[in-house]
Amino acid sequence: MSSVRFLTGITTSGTPHLGNYVGSIRPSVRASLAADVESFYFLADYHALIKVDEPARIQRSTLEIAASWLAAGLDPERVTFYRQSDVPEIPELTWLLTCVTGKGVLNRAHAYKAAVDKNTGADEDPDMDVTAGLFMYPVLMGADILMFNAHKVPVGRDQIQHIEMARDMANSFNHRYGEHFVPPQAVIEESVATLPGLDGRKMSKSYDNTIPLFAPREQLKKLVAGIVTDSRLPGEPKATEGSALFQIYQAFASEEETAALSKAYSDGIAWGDAKQVLFERIDREIAPMRVAYLDLINNPVKIEAILMAGAAKARQRATPFMAELRHAVGLRRLGDVASVAPQKAAKAALPSFKQYRESDGQFRFKLVDAQGQLLLQSLGFASPKHAGQAIAMLQRDGVPALTILAAQLEPMTADANTVGAALALLAVEA
Ligand code: TRP
Repeated sequence: MSSVRFLTGITTSGTPHLGNYVGSIRPSVRASLAADVESFYFLADYHALIKVDEPARIQRSTLEIAASWLAAGLDPERVTFYRQSDVPEIPELTWLLTCVTGKGVLNRAHAYKAAVDKNTGADEDPDMDVTAGLFMYPVLMGADILMFNAHKVPVGRDQIQHIEMARDMANSFNHRYGEHFVPPQAVIEESVATLPGLDGRKMSKSYDNTIPLFAPREQLKKLVAGIVTDSRLPGEPKATEGSALFQIYQAFASEEETAALSKAYSDGIAWGDAKQVLFERIDREIAPMRVAYLDLINNPVKIEAILMAGAAKARQRATPFMAELRHAVGLRRLGDVASVAPQKAAKAALPSFKQYRESDGQFRFKLVDAQGQLLLQSLGFASPKHAGQAIAMLQRDGVPALTILAAQLEPMTADANTVGAALALLAVEA
């Protein structure tokens, strides 16, 4: 439980390309393999709605990005891999964060500001074609991150501002309601922060200059042949600086390989030959994954099952944490009012939760009935906070929470109906 939590998402708005692979998919899979990290990787389909209004494209992109991540070696047993829209606690948290985020802060978000500046420049209404979704983008992203209290968020440079905003949201919430959130930090892959595209600008869907990650070999070859170069002839020395081809090569090659290409540049390699070298190098890394990808993409039912299991795993955390946050802001059962009102006598006759610490240092709780008979016994939690979250969830959701928390509870000895009835009593009185 003391491990570092990594979290990152990819917006499901198109076909994954080499830039996504080098900047996000590959580093996230690598990070997930390290010891002592806990990783959360997700398909940001709510974010996709901000840019895309073609339902079929969103669905297709979700399938392609999920398959890419899995083909690149993400192990869903090891990480929590889910689709944003399967975790309803995320939009719920978005609202709580909306209420602690200054409108002026959102006015300064790059994507929104760019849209407004463009309109102003064209002498249009500043907010023409700007949706409230675009404006709220950073808050939804803040909820993605804070929902799981991620410490580290691997992203491209263009996302740093969003992570800073998420930190601010965490701090303002904590300031008002007590310590609930960890302020997250951006992790930038320096070497690959900007993979150039075919035209030399940053590889991006919006520039239409991408190389699809799993383009068939022949298509990959054609696309690589289309990367911009200068007009130097074979035999003329060439500059590695500013060469898109060289930069892409570097993102795939070892140091020795890169040094060798650099030498070939100064020796005057023909552009056609350099492109062949790049093509073969990319294909060497991608080809084995391409096989796995095709297999997955033809089996959407399997991917769907993986995502559903991932959502259940994500919600094991999100549901009790959301219960804690709701309570913190005052979205509470009215029974809470009764518990501070002068009706103490009735309370003594109720079942109750008892929290305690075991000699192994773990925190446990049990539910006992009014006579002190054991109804439910938890396994060990690393912190009193986690045990408290599980209790909050049982109080809020009753019997359904038993299933969600099954892995953290001893097998029940008491009759399930008795436990259910006790929880129902507490749901009113807690
Ligand atoms: N905004 C990110 C992008 O477009 C995707 C994203 C959504 C994300 N939620 C996130 C990234 C949370 C990291 C953490 O690249």
